[in-house]
Amino acid sequence: MAGKRAPAYALLGLNDIVRECLVFLRHESEDKNVVFKTRLEPNLPFIRGDQIQLQQIIVNLIVNSIQAMKAAPQTQHEIYLETSLDANDHVAFSIRDTGTGIPIEYMEQLFDGFFTTKDGGLGIGLAICQSIVKAHGGTIAAANHADGGALFHFSIPTESAATAANDSASSRYLASGITLDTTRQTSLSTSDEC
Ligand SMILES: Nc1ncnc2c1ncn2[C@@H]1O[C@H](COP(=O)(O)OP(=O)(O)O)[C@@H](O)[C@H]1O
Ligand SMILES: [Mg+2]
Repeated sequence: MAGKRAPAYALLGLNDIVRECLVFLRHESEDKNVVFKTRLEPNLPFIRGDQIQLQQIIVNLIVNSIQAMKAAPQTQHEIYLETSLDANDHVAFSIRDTGTGIPIEYMEQLFDGFFTTKDGGLGIGLAICQSIVKAHGGTIAAANHADGGALFHFSIPTESAATAANDSASSRYLASGITLDTTRQTSLSTSDEC
């Protein structure tokens, strides 16, 4: 998709990126009778990332899902897209389809470069997804859903998680400043409760 270019990092909303990808793939999905069902968490914190690279991950995952459903016998072609904030304060994205699912023997190799089970497949889509997610400090994983179809999930630290990590690193050097902040925080929350 994108050629070689220097990554341009900016504060981004993951929901906006998902919506952009859906616009981009509208014709493709209508052609293949695919219905998107989205559940996008409102008010997600920003992530610091490269917009085109993040779009590339989501487009790759959706195209794989569309292809897996083309290969599946059932006529119901649904893709469930979800965003959320996970317990680690990371922004998470998951995609589930109603396709063939992933044969268990391939599960370990999916993200390897040039692994493909498709005639004419390149086998680089998921390898690219993984390297982009890693470059953003996140992780990506694949599974099969209990109700059938494949499930891919990635999460990326939010701007606030990155700030918190920086704060805890700097707290080793700025102990007195942190103590002051904590005191102010405590008195604020006490007055909130009154
Ligand atoms: N949604 C999915 N459902 C089932 N299998 C999948 C799905 N996505 C990826 N795969 C498996 O992972 C392989 C690698 O995917 P990818 O790296 O995108 O390469 P390609 O699409 O060119 O085969 C695919 O060939 C397929 O076997
Ligand atoms: Mg692919």
